[in-house]
Amino acid sequence: MSSREQWSSRQGFILATIGAAVGLGNIWRFSYVAGENGGAAFLFLYLLCVLLVGLPIVIAELALGRRAQGDAVAAFEEAGDGSVWRYAGWIGVFGAIAILSYYAVIAGWALKYFVGAATGALWTTAAEGYGSYFKTFIANTGEPIAWHAAMLAAAVYVVAGGVRKGIEVVNRWLMPILAMIIIALALFALSLPGSGAGVRFLFSPDWSVLAKPEVYVAALGQAFFSLGVGMAVFLTYGSYMPRNFRLPTSAVAIAVGDALFAIVAGVAIFPAVFALGIDPTAGPELAFITLPQVFLQMPGGALAGAVFFFLLSAAALTSMVSLLEVPVAMAVRRLKCQRWKATGLIGAIILVLGIPSALSFGVLAHIKIGRHGILDAIDAGVSNFLLPITAILIALYVGWRLDKAIALSESELGEGKLGVCWHWLLRALVPMAIVAILLQSASVL
Ligand code: TRP
Repeated sequence: MSSREQWSSRQGFILATIGAAVGLGNIWRFSYVAGENGGAAFLFLYLLCVLLVGLPIVIAELALGRRAQGDAVAAFEEAGDGSVWRYAGWIGVFGAIAILSYYAVIAGWALKYFVGAATGALWTTAAEGYGSYFKTFIANTGEPIAWHAAMLAAAVYVVAGGVRKGIEVVNRWLMPILAMIIIALALFALSLPGSGAGVRFLFSPDWSVLAKPEVYVAALGQAFFSLGVGMAVFLTYGSYMPRNFRLPTSAVAIAVGDALFAIVAGVAIFPAVFALGIDPTAGPELAFITLPQVFLQMPGGALAGAVFFFLLSAAALTSMVSLLEVPVAMAVRRLKCQRWKATGLIGAIILVLGIPSALSFGVLAHIKIGRHGILDAIDAGVSNFLLPITAILIALYVGWRLDKAIALSESELGEGKLGVCWHWLLRALVPMAIVAILLQSASVL
């Protein structure tokens, strides 16, 4: 146990957890999901989900991990004495691998666009339109796999470097830069003539969309994905947290940082989309088809575009690193193998597992799971089922199975109002909200 690494500072730990939370989810996914679900009213629901469902789970994960001083599987083994609870840890490990397999593919698209924007190649293809540019690219066989492999190699490199020298260092550098970039892009978007419509879309609610049950499913799914709860990422990062870091303040910093990032990303994206009279409900293609068009048409857009796709790639990298650390931490302990070997091996497995997703718009496009292609099916399955299910397990475990006094002291919330409130959220509101949403999303299948 004494050989386990720890974060070198509280600031480094918080930046690493915010790095885990802030990713494609805040920019690519948030913008299209908010666009599809009516903007401001969705934003309100999403924030409510972050506060009442996401934040209590973040606290529970951090507390479980720090208590166990071990990986996802160890955390449940330790207090679960061989009971079924230990499968919760395994679901986290396999879930993290499943997410990475397709997440790295999308991150690869972002990297391709960044390289294209920086070299100028992206701006010369405008004639054919970005719709066909994007579709031709993802229908390729070799190219999406190559970019997927490049992103994975970067994540493997960081994680192999260790908790302090790899993960912490990269997040310390990247996260402040990313925060400055997104603020600069938002200010730039606000300066465009006609940006007001986008601001109104994001901040002035049309409550009528709340009548649609899908909006609630989308808001909770987005809160889970964007925070990154449910896959033992915070549990694993929490296990490297020394005793003297204040746990509740760290959890609040993660939730607030993540939500702010999504909102500012919305301010960067929607005003620009509206200023050019483009439809915000484009779906998953918003970042890759609509936005390049926006950049191409606006003054200074080539630079803004390159900076935007750098942001998207780098934010994806820090999230990939957090997901990769979950199986790596488990393998290092269980198989007693060296960190760099474990990281390389798991990276190689994810590379192979991601290939069907990378090809799912090309040679494998004919394969459908339900109504979805392979990548979309894994994304829907993970966000709408796997994440909520592991989140319920964590909530029930900390709420009911773990001794109440231990839960309250490990979370540092104590016996006061705050602690009792958190404990009841985990016991009742969180599981009920998640079950309601699961039933709802099962019924729309
Ligand atoms: N939160 C990240 C994003 O917004 C993705 C992510 C990282 C994640 N770790 C996770 C998603 C754990 C689900 C579970 O892009």
